Order: sequence, then structure tokens, then C-alpha cells
Amino acid sequence: MTSNGEQMPDIATDPRPVDFSGDLAKYREDFPILSRSVSSGEPLIFLDNAASTQRPRAVIDAISHCYEHYYANVHRGIHTLSEESTQRYEQARATVADFVHAASPKEIVFCAGTTAAINTVARSWGDANIGAGDVILLTIAEHHANIVPWHQLAERTGCKVEFIPLGEDHTIADEQVAEALARWQPKLFSFVATSNVLGTEFPVERWVALARQHNATVLVDAAQAAPHEKVDVQAWDADFVVFSGHKICGPGGIGVLYGKEQQLESMPPFLGGGAMIHRVTTSGYEPAGLPEKFEAGTPPIADAIGLEAAINYVSDIGLERIAAHERALCQVADSGLRGIDGVRVIGPTPELKGGIVSFVIDGVHSHDIAHQLDTAGIAVRAGHHCTMPLHKALGLNSTTRASFYLYNTIDEVHQLIESVRELRAKFAPSGRRRRRR
Ligand SMILES: Cc1ncc(COP(=O)(O)O)c(C=O)c1O
Repeated sequence: MTSNGEQMPDIATDPRPVDFSGDLAKYREDFPILSRSVSSGEPLIFLDNAASTQRPRAVIDAISHCYEHYYANVHRGIHTLSEESTQRYEQARATVADFVHAASPKEIVFCAGTTAAINTVARSWGDANIGAGDVILLTIAEHHANIVPWHQLAERTGCKVEFIPLGEDHTIADEQVAEALARWQPKLFSFVATSNVLGTEFPVERWVALARQHNATVLVDAAQAAPHEKVDVQAWDADFVVFSGHKICGPGGIGVLYGKEQQLESMPPFLGGGAMIHRVTTSGYEPAGLPEKFEAGTPPIADAIGLEAAINYVSDIGLERIAAHERALCQVADSGLRGIDGVRVIGPTPELKGGIVSFVIDGVHSHDIAHQLDTAGIAVRAGHHCTMPLHKALGLNSTTRASFYLYNTIDEVHQLIESVRELRAKFAPSGRRRRRR
């Protein structure tokens, strides 16, 4: 039995990730990097996907093809390459719009990533709508990308940033959210859809509906959700939804700011320069329409095309299948790690979380754990994962995080569990067993 009283799976024979079993080897072949070895010749076991996933050949090829065949700056040239580049760049936007079920491609702004998207909202919507004494409401589970821009807004405007604490089970109950909204009457409620540490998946639609009862504007950080579950911005009904390309098999340096058309229309541009204007005179400027208004300068053209290829790749496999596969891996990892004396899994039980398992080993620093696992070829992340307030609330300085994606196998999970078991035994020899919390 695990510490939760659950039946431990037989990790040698557990058949649960059957959904992928026929195709997994094929998918793995799509990712050239997975065939390399690390450390002293160990096959790579890449379990750092919440930080960045790897790229399939289809994405690498789409980017190379762009640079080899049609790259030119968009929206500016009256020549063949520029027209082709523009057409493909806008096609990528349309694909993203379909992917998140936006009402129109105008609602899709390409930017550098989740961080850039949230900063854009804080600078543009925030500066225009927030004043002294107003409240921005967050959860304690936010990534620094969804905390610091609001602290900066508070520095500029005198607004307050308040946090909803974590519930006992490492989730946050709807009642807590309702109470916080009633208490703080925030102008903005900005929250993460899936925690990058706990793995907890929060009920986006329900929380947006609660926020609406208090007329709060809502931003959803979908950085860890978009790679694994269907993001339907119309069903979610948030004003803003943001995510990064590199966590969904796409290139680094591109991300998405979705905003409701009305909302984006009403916002002033944040960055000024070329491409975002309709007209410039010596006395002023007139901004372009959507979405160009928010895309000053030369955009990440090949990256947008790479992101489109990534979206097509994961969509062809099916987000539901990917999520089911990860959930199965997560369940085995979670139960296996909870079953090791001296190991604590941080986060709720597997049915409440996506493909993320964070843990601590009593008496062993997370950096040492990650280093030791690396010698076995296993890449995990160690540290505070850009969530210092969450770690403080948990009473921890750092955690070790294993995070799964579509190409991970059950064997890799078994190897993680075995390596952690060995590591624990090495650092806590028999006779010096520590108390299990
Ligand atoms: C939940 C969450 N939000 C925001 C970010 C920031 O994403 P990026 O670094 O791509 O801007 C991350 C990255 O790990 C994340 O996990």
C-alpha cells in the first residue's frame, strides 16, 4: 500500500499505458534527440518536459524548410518570398486559432512565450485599467511569470496583489476561490490551469464562472495545460489565455497570447515600432488593427511555422490520447515513488494531476538528486521551478520534478523509481532510516 492507502501497482508488469503501446516506438522515432546518450553513455531518459519538450522531425523540418525555401520578412514586401512567408505566417495563426477554438485569428497574438504574453497584458491592459487600491488576485501556485509582472504593476500603480492559499490536499477548492473573490473583489483574477510543480489541474471553466460573478477580468496561464489537454477558449470564457510553443514540441521563442477580440480592441499597444502602426506622423501614430497592434517589429516567422507543425503533430496523435498516456505514466511514478521510504511526493493524488510528479527525499538536496539521476541518464528538474512563494507555502526550499510527455515509456518510469530507490538507500543506509512524513 502507498502512504495514501492505495494499492501499489506492480511496476514490472503494470499494463495501464496500453493506449499508446502500439504507436509509442513510432512516436519515439520521430524525435531524433531521444536516440542520443548522456553522462557516461547512458541512453537519455528525458523527464524534464514541463520545462521544455523535445521537437519531432516534422517541426525541425518545417523550420528548415522555411529558411531554405521561402523565408522573408512578412507583411512588408511586394515580392514572391514575402508574400509566401506572409501567407504561411498567417496560416500558422489560423491553425493556432483552430487549436484553441478562438472565434477569429485576430484573437491570436504571437509573442515570445507565456512570460512575454503575461507581461503584455500587465503593461497594456494593466496600465490602462488598474489603479491604486485595486486588487489583482492570484493563487499561491503561480509561476513567477504570473507573479512578477503583477508586482511590477503594483509598483507602477499602487494596486495590491493577493494570493489564494493552497488547500490541504495540494489543490484549491472552489469555495476558497469564491471566498477570495468575494473578499477581494479583484479587477483581475489570473491563475494557472495546471501547476508546474504540483501537477494539479484546476477547474478553469468553474473558476472563470465564479470570477464573472464579481465582474473580474480573467487571465489563464495555460503553459502546462495546452500541451496536454484541449484548450477551448470559448468554453473557458477567460479574457486572456497564454501558453508557450516550446512546451508543446514547438520552437523556443514563440508563444501565444489569446485575448477576446473586444478586450484586445480596447487595449493600447504595449511595444511600439514597425508593423504595429497604421500611420505615423511627426506628432503621433495610429495603431494597426488586430493582431498586428501587438506584434511590433519583425515577428518570429519560422518559429510560428514551427509551432504550427508542432500543433499539427500533437493534434494528429490526439491530445486526449497524450493526456491518457501521461496520466498512466504519472500514476505509476506517483505510486512507485510514494512507496519508497523517505520519499515524499508533493502534489495531489494522480487522478487530480497532469503528467508531473514532484518529490523530495528526506535529507538529500534536490540538486544532488538531479545530479545522481543524470549519471543514470535521467533528466529531471531540481530547484524551486520559478515558484518560490509556492515552495515557501509548502515549507520547502526545493523539489525534484519528473514530468512526462507523449514519448516517455513505462520502462523509463520504472528506471526513475529504481534509481530513486537506490539513491535513497545510498544516502540513508539501513539503521539510519528517517521518519517518513
Ligand atoms: C505554469 C507556467 N507558467 C509560465 C511559464 C513561463 O513560460 P516561458 O518561460 O515559456 O515564458 C512556465 C514555464 O515553465 C510555466 O510552467
